[in-house]
Amino acid sequence: MTHPKKSILSDKRLFLLEQLNEKTRLDSFHCQIKEYNDYLFDESIRSQKDQMALTWLLRERSTGSIAAYMSLISDAIKLSATEKELHQLAYPFKTIPAMKIAKLAVSTAFQERYKGIGSLMVEMAIQIAQSCNEQHFACRFITVDADIEHNETVLKFYEKNNFIPNEEIKGKNRKTISMRRDILFMAKP
Ligand SMILES: CC(C)(COP(=O)(O)OP(=O)(O)OC[C@H]1O[C@@H](n2cnc3c(N)ncnc32)[C@H](O)[C@@H]1OP(=O)(O)O)[C@@H](O)C(=O)NCCC(=O)NCCS
Repeated sequence: MTHPKKSILSDKRLFLLEQLNEKTRLDSFHCQIKEYNDYLFDESIRSQKDQMALTWLLRERSTGSIAAYMSLISDAIKLSATEKELHQLAYPFKTIPAMKIAKLAVSTAFQERYKGIGSLMVEMAIQIAQSCNEQHFACRFITVDADIEHNETVLKFYEKNNFIPNEEIKGKNRKTISMRRDILFMAKP
């Protein structure tokens, strides 16, 4: 018998966001795409030590299980004149500061039980970027290379989370689609 998924919004306090460290046990995480498991188990610590990607884990408080993870990196995107206009960026340069969600995956068991964990991770990434804006350095966009090779319909997930595709990368036969979300205000395409 299948049970309806619970909305994460009513259960937010059941989870805790924490940074990966060398002592973290990761074996409770499992998602259906092998590459995302392999990255977490085999690459995430090395990437963090090398200052190449910083990984955040969403932990269920009651069981200690890892419900989701994301790896964040700094980024910069080039916008066309039309795109700059859309985002009200009247600056002479094309390159705009950003932060990229380099990896994002929800553990399959939690995908089945809850609705909204992936979206919560996106919101948490935005909060991290906003705290950089308040304290450290400027970041106008959250970006992602939506991995359509491993998850054909993932674009829909990012669109529902208010990401839009970058103009210059639209095209065929791509493994990823570069997308962005303005975190200062919502652009209306
Ligand atoms: C993609 C992923 C992170 C989404 O997480 P999630 O917790 O299932 O997503 P949410 O519950 O927050 O979904 C928000 C909305 O997006 C939709 N959505 C989520 N994944 C989707 C998909 N693959 N295709 C189409 N729509 C999707 C949901 O139905 C929901 O829509 P609704 O608000 O109209 O009900 C998760 O499925 C996952 O980890 N997939 C495997 C790894 C992966 O593909 N990572 C992204 C690579 S860039």
